[in-house]
Amino acid sequence: MSRFPKPREDLQGFAAYRTQQMAAEVKIHANEWGEPTSAAGYLSADELEALLLNRYPDDGAALRGALARRWDVTEDQILFGNGSNELLLDTFLAFAGHGRTVLLFEPTYSMHERLARTAGSTVVLEEIGLPYDVTLARATAAMERVKPHVVLFCTPNNPTGNTVAREVVAGVASRWPETLVLVDEAYTEFAGTTHMPLVKTHPNVVVTRTFSKARAAAALRLGVLVADPAIASIYRAVARPYSVNALTFAVALRVLEDEAQVERRVARARAERERIAAALATQGAVQAFPSEANFILFRVKEPTAAVHARFLAQGVLIRDVSGWPGCAGCLRVTVGTRAENDRFIAALGPVFKGVGVTK
Ligand SMILES: Cc1ncc(COP(=O)(O)O)c(C=O)c1O
Repeated sequence: MSRFPKPREDLQGFAAYRTQQMAAEVKIHANEWGEPTSAAGYLSADELEALLLNRYPDDGAALRGALARRWDVTEDQILFGNGSNELLLDTFLAFAGHGRTVLLFEPTYSMHERLARTAGSTVVLEEIGLPYDVTLARATAAMERVKPHVVLFCTPNNPTGNTVAREVVAGVASRWPETLVLVDEAYTEFAGTTHMPLVKTHPNVVVTRTFSKARAAAALRLGVLVADPAIASIYRAVARPYSVNALTFAVALRVLEDEAQVERRVARARAERERIAAALATQGAVQAFPSEANFILFRVKEPTAAVHARFLAQGVLIRDVSGWPGCAGCLRVTVGTRAENDRFIAALGPVFKGVGVTK
């Protein structure tokens, strides 16, 4: 046996996160915004000239101020991360980790489990399955059984697309004040609802947001977390200094000012989502789940790998999520540009030809 460093026992068998980066003309697999948003549209040549790289960046004071005003919270309640993934990891580093437990309601965003495990936490998966109906009774029963240090709610939930009701999050947060309750709101703009007011009434609730979805800036890598000031100071204690860079802060401030674009994207996503849902509803071999996000989950009757490959043969890359707990037989399509969605809809006939009966 050759001698070389080995990872922790609990990380053995861990493989890299894969996002199915296959070549395809139409890529509607990663819940990104399909229309290009150029950095040059946000910063002028003069502004770039003034942006100096030799010093470490500030802590995003201008952006922090703007977000605090918009969300009616204090500046010390806001934390930034290199994507909301980084803030999720910090959550597990600070509040979970070795000897502590994280509760997740499945199927949900697969990085929740990966990051919790990376931090050394014990992860308990409560399988809700489909339809993804996280009720207060269900959540309470799981909380009583598991007594986790951290529990996550994702709303709208990836990959199912539906929301989790305020009373569920509030009910759990009130009854278990020593559990950190994280609400992942990556897709919240599309649904038009938020649980952020709970941060004021329940200090154990934290909310994460991202610039990667409705703000169409996934490449910026900017996530935001809103917490009670005392909880926020715990996050600050584990955060790396300068993990968000000066270019990101400068562009993000402009992206934030561009609210009209967010409204336009949300309206567009809703209309296009309904168009895709209507097309899926004509396919007898498909069961689509109602979504309030910029993607739709659907279940097929055949092995998902075969269906996924047939979409790819039509030039359309979607996401096979059948391996996610509670998601057997399912694929997820992101709402793309109108032209991309046309391609997806046109592919349905050839992909499902002869499978089930067209309704
Ligand atoms: C539910 C959910 N949370 C967080 C993220 C990660 O976002 P970010 O780009 O801010 O790291 C994603 C990305 O797909 C997501 O689906």
